[in-house]
Amino acid sequence: MNPPADQAHAFPARVYHPQKTSLARYLYIHPSIHMSNWKTDRERTSSLSDWTQVEEYSNSFLVRQDDAFNAIQHNDKNRGLPDIAVSANQGKFLYLLAKTFGARRCLEVGTLGGFSTAWMARAVPDDGKVVTFELNENYGKIARENWKIAGVSDKISLVLGSATETLVQYDPKERFDLAFIDADKEHCLLYFREAKRLVRKGGVIIVDNVVRYGKVADPSYQDHDTNGVRDLLKAIQSDDDVDATSLNTVGSKGLDGFLYALLK
Ligand SMILES: C[S@@+](CC[C@H](N)C(=O)[O-])C[C@H]1O[C@@H](n2cnc3c(N)ncnc32)[C@H](O)[C@@H]1O
Repeated sequence: MNPPADQAHAFPARVYHPQKTSLARYLYIHPSIHMSNWKTDRERTSSLSDWTQVEEYSNSFLVRQDDAFNAIQHNDKNRGLPDIAVSANQGKFLYLLAKTFGARRCLEVGTLGGFSTAWMARAVPDDGKVVTFELNENYGKIARENWKIAGVSDKISLVLGSATETLVQYDPKERFDLAFIDADKEHCLLYFREAKRLVRKGGVIIVDNVVRYGKVADPSYQDHDTNGVRDLLKAIQSDDDVDATSLNTVGSKGLDGFLYALLK
């Protein structure tokens, strides 16, 4: 799932000065930085190994080593799961988001080994729940092992089968505060519509992989998954029920992005 080596992207180097306002704040350049260097920095190309290094550097300060999460990643590798789970800093982002608005109930589409599920389960209170949907029975089995390792099994319900059917039929008594959509991209608009039905007003829906190494914005890519993301973006453009944006995620997982939608 890594981007091709020739797909290099520029890192913006923006200097921020809180005392200045509006445009001036944006354009403020520290005296030690010459405009020409700043422009050069912005145009600097970088590679997957640079992004991985940056992620590891930031994580060393911000994402504490955690035996349970390390063990999950280790188990996933040993059991031969594809390397497509969220990264640790993305898992922590989901955790912090859930904590920020006191999420009690989280919905997930696409479990794999349950790494992202475990992060959200850590965030919800003891009487909270994460309900996660997974197609592959073997992945579900490994996820259950992982949740036991992390001590979060009691907070998680796994629904096996294709979410194109199971999610559509799902009718819980209580709505969710947060949904994380991370299964096949071909059906991401279907999952998004179902998440809208299942998440309360004021809740948040996150969709992973909405950039897909830049393929979504490049019309020469016409595969089902890439077109699935485009269908979602087009649908949201005229959807007055949600307010949305996307955040590019650049790191060990390559160039990708989260879609963040708030249910109005
Ligand atoms: C990117 S992985 C999920 C990673 C996980 N959220 C994490 O970050 O730890 C995508 C998962 O979606 C599952 N999936 C694909 N199509 C599906 C479907 N139709 N219904 C449910 N799950 C599906 C795949 O089997 C795979 O485990």
